Parts: sequence; C-alpha cells; structure tokens
Amino acid sequence: MKTLRVAIDPWNPDPVVLEKAVAILRRGGLVAFPTETVYGLGADALNPEAVRGVYRAKGRPSDNPLILHLSRREMAEELAFPDARSRRLMDALWPGPLTLVLPARSVVPGVTRGGLDTAALRMPDHPVAAALIETAGFPLAAPSANVSGRPSPTDADGVWEDLEGRIDMILDAGPVSVGIESTVVDMTADPPLLLRPGGMSREVLEGFLGVALAQPDNVSRRRSPGTRYRHYAPFVPVWIWREGAPLPDGAASEKCGFMGLVPPPGVFGRSLRFDSVENYARGLFSGFRALEAAGLQGIVVQWPPSGGVGLGLRDRIRRAAQAGS
Ligand code: TXA
Ligand code: MG
Repeated sequence: MKTLRVAIDPWNPDPVVLEKAVAILRRGGLVAFPTETVYGLGADALNPEAVRGVYRAKGRPSDNPLILHLSRREMAEELAFPDARSRRLMDALWPGPLTLVLPARSVVPGVTRGGLDTAALRMPDHPVAAALIETAGFPLAAPSANVSGRPSPTDADGVWEDLEGRIDMILDAGPVSVGIESTVVDMTADPPLLLRPGGMSREVLEGFLGVALAQPDNVSRRRSPGTRYRHYAPFVPVWIWREGAPLPDGAASEKCGFMGLVPPPGVFGRSLRFDSVENYARGLFSGFRALEAAGLQGIVVQWPPSGGVGLGLRDRIRRAAQAGS
C-alpha cells in the first residue's frame, strides 16, 4: 500500500485535504492525524471492517479496545450513557486530554470496544482532529499511530517510521503540544478509577469531581486491557535515574544518552535537557526515537516529580524501563 503524506496547516486546515482524508475513511481506510497528545491512527469507529484494519496495521491485540474521538459534545450521548458526573467533566474539560470510559450504546461495534460493554470517549483539542471528525460526521476510533509496543508518535516522522506502507494517509500538522497520551478514567466505577494517568492532571480531575480517584488494583486492571501490555519502549534499554542516587552500572558513558531536567555528573554521548516537566513530557517519546536513531546503546532517564503531567510521565518512563529489562 502506498502511504500518502500531506502537510496541513494546524490552525487553518485546508478543506480540500480534509475531504480527501474523509473519502478514505468513508471507504474503510486508515488516516493518521494529529491530536494535542500524540498522533492517532484513525478509522470509522462504527465500521467493524475499518476498525479491524487498525488492529492489523498496528499489530495490536484485538482485546485491547480503542478510544472513540468526537468533535461535538452531543456525540457522547449517541454513543454512550454518561451519568451526571461524567457530563460535568465533559462540559468542563472537553476538548482536552481526557478519555472517559462509559457504558456503551449498541451502535458501537464490539470490535471497537474490544468486546467490553463500555466505550472510551474523548474530544481532542486540536483543530485538525476536530475538523476531520466534523467533516466525516462519524467518530474516529484512534489508537496512537505507532506499531504496538513502540513509543507513541509525537510528529509525522514518527508515524512514517512505524506505519509507512501500512496505512493510506498521514496528515502532517507538525509536532503535538502535550506529548503523552490522554488520561483515561473509568466512570463506571465509584469513585471513578484512574486507568491511565496522562495529559490531564489528576489534581484537576479530582478538583472537578470533589473526590479522590481510585487507583487500579489487579482486578480492575483487567478492565483496561492496554495497561497489561508492554508499551512505550525504544529498542535500546532505558534506565531510570533518581536524583541523588548512583547511576546503574555502565549507564554513564559516551555510548549512552540522557533525558531529563538536570543531568547526573558523568559523560553522555548526547543529553536532552528540558526546562519544565511539561516540556519533558512533550519531548519524551521523540527523544526516545532520536537517541535510539543516534546509535546510543542505552538511555538514562531522570525520574520526574509527580505533580501535574509528571504522574503520566512517570508511568510512561516506568513502562519503557520495564520493557527494556
Ligand atoms: O491521547 C490518546 O489517548 C491517544 C490519542 C490518539 O487520542 N490515543 C491513545 O490510544 O493513546 P491507545 O489505543 O494507544 O490507548 C487507549 C487506552 C488503552 O490503554 C485501552 O486499553 C484503553 O484506553 N481503553 C480503551 N477503551 C477502553 C474501555 N472500554 N475500557 C477500559 N479501557 C479502555
Ligand atoms: Mg498506544
């Protein structure tokens, strides 16, 4: 399959390009598009054959459900049964990096939900994503646009690297702003369950809900199948470094790279330093890809503080380090 890569202005998306993308989606094809978190691999969420194509292109296990992306608040009522609490969150925090797991209506095909009776919904905060979904008129099922297990792509080069030849089109609107995936909250639990920390901070969510979010235990973890799989990993080993702690054996050398806020003493082949936790999150996945492409044999990654996006950043770093070991 030939993959078409088309540049699109993030602030003023060209309707001709959008129509072309929608024509592909209507016939069941796959289009990668930018969101504020990471690039997504989109298909018509209501077309089971199209959704099967997403799993095939990514090499993703078919029991790991997909997020449905919406452009309007009303679409949530057509696809699921939100309760009052969920409606409050949607009204206050959408569009944004927040995914809500809700009881699904039967219009959502089983394959999109990975066989569960719930559906995960989110309204992305990106003009290209919004215009694409609005032009299509149907929700887009979209996992991150990487091969299963690899770091999520934060620009079109990352999508191209993983999926060139496997998908129909990439809409290239430049780098994303958040850099890690959305926060996933299971609203069918009481109190709601934080299934995946991400771009929307826990503090903000708890402020709106007025209760503390529950943490998944081993039983509830089964409800978000994605959290079971190895994830977010570059091909080279990743070591976590906590400030003040010694470096792992062999980690500080010209053959290794560093990513974080303040590097430890020692020599590194390349260092990517960020001046805030937000910028660290924005640069993590592309940093993994860049350091691995530079031929470094390992990456030392600084453990960030846990506030704001730091909680999601910690989660991605922990998974990348586990996968490498
Ligand atoms: O920021 C994001 O969320 C990006 C962009 C493209 O929107 N998408 C993304 O999708 O990260 P994906 O497929 O890589 O991750 C979706 C996560 C998985 O952990 C999956 O298991 C979980 O959401 N999920 C989806 N539907 C679910 C459901 N019905 N119940 C529980 N978890 C669900
Ligand atoms: Mg993913």
